[in-house]
Amino acid sequence: MDSQHCRVNGDSFQESSYIEDSPNKNGVISLIFSLKEEVGALAKVLRTFEEKGINLTHIESRPSRLNKDEYEFFINLEGKNVPALDKIIKSLRSDIGATVHELSRTKKKDTVPWFPRSIQELDRFANQILSYGAELDADHPGFKDPVYRARRKEFADIAYNYRHGQPIPRVTYTEEEKKTWGTVFRELKTLYPTHACYEHNHVFPLLEKYCGYREDNIPQLEDISNFLQSCTGFRLRPVAGLLSSRDFLAGLAFRVFHSTQYIRHASKPMYTPEPDICHELLGHVPLFADPSFAQFSQEIGLASLGAPDDFIEKLATVYWFTVEFGLCKEGDALKAYGAGLLSSFGELQYCLSSKPEIQPLVLEKTSLQKYPVTEFQPVYYVAESFKDAKDKLRKFAETIPRPFSVRYNPYTQRIEVLDNAKQLKNLADTINSEIGILCNALQKIR
Ligand SMILES: [Fe+2]
Repeated sequence: MDSQHCRVNGDSFQESSYIEDSPNKNGVISLIFSLKEEVGALAKVLRTFEEKGINLTHIESRPSRLNKDEYEFFINLEGKNVPALDKIIKSLRSDIGATVHELSRTKKKDTVPWFPRSIQELDRFANQILSYGAELDADHPGFKDPVYRARRKEFADIAYNYRHGQPIPRVTYTEEEKKTWGTVFRELKTLYPTHACYEHNHVFPLLEKYCGYREDNIPQLEDISNFLQSCTGFRLRPVAGLLSSRDFLAGLAFRVFHSTQYIRHASKPMYTPEPDICHELLGHVPLFADPSFAQFSQEIGLASLGAPDDFIEKLATVYWFTVEFGLCKEGDALKAYGAGLLSSFGELQYCLSSKPEIQPLVLEKTSLQKYPVTEFQPVYYVAESFKDAKDKLRKFAETIPRPFSVRYNPYTQRIEVLDNAKQLKNLADTINSEIGILCNALQKIR
């Protein structure tokens, strides 16, 4: 995981101060320090606080467990005098020789990995990709093709320069690119009626009608993004390469899907070692137009915000076995809803054959499942429904150790951190208002 998002227990510990907010949040600050057991040592420290006009409201002492000849003191002081604290801590160390074991309030907050609070902050991810579009691996079909690599750089630049709120630049695809798309589109479309889930088949004709989904046309991200917004509020934004799991999942919390815009190499139209526009548009996009699936996807994103690294890995695995390679029940039959399946002619047939192992979606288990990334999956997980998957995800999210809950406010396009009474009251007011509308509507229906 990228280090800038993981400022947990960093080296700055020694430099910081052990000042933490009191749990009652009434402006009281707590500080722990230790002193050598000498007559008058504590009095000297207390005088320092007095000189700075800081009022101590509580003090406790105990023998130090680290140094036998020291005592530790725990004090509460009034938070309004914070500016003078740095000086006092400095003085405790230099003038009095106190050992100050400290954690700062900032430190405490930093133990939660950074996450975007507003949709504009997703712009920060643009230059945090793990691989840049033109830098292909040696086994990539386009590795030795300078024209393809130059083309990939063009797409990477579009994504790199894109900022939230701008229209996604339209691309004039070459005849060769359109031919590749056409091959994939034609082949996959023959399988959808029998292999894809109801939601995919329901939305696909709408994409043909409104977004230019045709065998001889590669649709534009901007048109699709506008269509999705009108259906579920989901939107696309171009991405230059692979994002970290943390960044990618955070986008989903805002109903933003990071989408590639380039297409696979023409030499192998039925194979791509990475996501490309065929995968995004044929696999992902139809499902993001479904309200229930959109909500499930957003739940994964919301669960990821501020989650520890090990939970990000678990959520990324859940994403893998649902959004990418999920199967769902339709009556007695199984259908595919995962984008990795719906964009792969070979795996779409294989996943519904008798060859792979089929397991029910149980997130505690699914989140730990190991998986290959370059071959067909040996095991698939089956969701009862998107609503069921969403309910399970919510329960799973409750096990994530983070000291707050989050909620997305679609009006402000911001994440609200529900860790104080004011936020909870705002939420209660919103729910109250919605319930009023519901009651009113129910009365009219009767
Ligand atoms: Fe994908």
